[in-house]
Amino acid sequence: MKIAVMGYGTVGSGVVEVIEAHSDVIPKRTGGKSLEVAHILDLRDFPGDSHASLFTKDFYDILNDDEVKIVAETMGGVNPAFDFTMKLLQAGKSVVTSNKELVAHKGLELLETAEKNGVNYLFEASVGGGIPIIRPITQCLAANNIEGIAGILNGTTNFILTMMIEKGMSFDEALKLAQDKGYAEKDPTADVQGHDACRKVCILASLAFGKHVYPSQVETEGITNISLEDVSYINSVDGVIKLLGQIKYISEDSIAAFVSPAVVYHGSQLASVHDVFNAVLVRGDAVGDVCFYGPGAGKLPTASAVVADMIDCAKHSDRKKIFGWGAGEEDYVVDYKACIKMPFYVRAKATCTQINSAFSEVKYLSRKGQPSDEVAFITDIMTENELKKRLDGIPVLNIIKVTNY
Ligand code: HSE
Repeated sequence: MKIAVMGYGTVGSGVVEVIEAHSDVIPKRTGGKSLEVAHILDLRDFPGDSHASLFTKDFYDILNDDEVKIVAETMGGVNPAFDFTMKLLQAGKSVVTSNKELVAHKGLELLETAEKNGVNYLFEASVGGGIPIIRPITQCLAANNIEGIAGILNGTTNFILTMMIEKGMSFDEALKLAQDKGYAEKDPTADVQGHDACRKVCILASLAFGKHVYPSQVETEGITNISLEDVSYINSVDGVIKLLGQIKYISEDSIAAFVSPAVVYHGSQLASVHDVFNAVLVRGDAVGDVCFYGPGAGKLPTASAVVADMIDCAKHSDRKKIFGWGAGEEDYVVDYKACIKMPFYVRAKATCTQINSAFSEVKYLSRKGQPSDEVAFITDIMTENELKKRLDGIPVLNIIKVTNY
């Protein structure tokens, strides 16, 4: 069966590599069909690459090739990936993708178009890289009401935080290393400011609760404000800082969803997720907590998920997989700051007397080299709005949510 790959970057070249390296086993898993790469679309040149005869800069070479039945879209970004994917689905070709930005923004339209045209639009690689999570949520956990999801969803930021926590490395040094290893997005601000994790939260929330959640509905804070001082205070209470995407069920008509740094205590499964690894913890009413763990970024892990989707499409070329969700609603994602209660870590230029008069109960933290005019503490549970009221007039250096996962 002929296939095409659009985008020959880290993931796309990994897809070609995995297909070629596994050409012997793939037919055993598709019911006898092999995957034969017929076109690779990329505007760049790749001198010396052994696939010279397959490269094209013209999307229509793929669209107009009737023998191509499955296309891997590993270009990233919304445009032109959206236009290309729409045209391919309308032409009766199945598309698989690692492009979380596209699924988060346009997943509803693309899934509806796939449905109408009797083909598949699959996106296992869009969340958690190589971790199986899309099918487990939609199939294996289908008997549960999902109460919440908390995930370390971005490998680059988890790598940076791990380097800061374990090696005392600066943020910039750790980011450079993550880029060199091919983990970061083309523009790493999407990683460090939390937008990449936000897109993955949108996909998980849409799948788990059935209505499209858009990135603009998910309040997002990245890791650029995290300092080695915060790392040190939190280490003193056996905790670590992770960038977490959190989704909480509130009612049939509302959920909370947000991305932010969070304190995770040792003992939580999420605390031991290091380096580029990701983990998604799903809390179901029947199953309890289940945690999916593995490499969240990188060439071959992500390609592993993309190629698995291609195998699924080849195996079920006559059958539509039932993945999807309905339209979103403006007020569906509520303002978590007004309704979700949790403890908070606070670092401030203040005295204990000031803090004690603002809070009835706090746990003070300490670190080596702590200046005499700096305090750090963990509050009792409260909403973020209440916290902000209590901190009114106090010069705050940082606030980090404390998770109960
Ligand atoms: N830049 C992303 C990350 C790649 O670091 O997790 C995988 O989505």
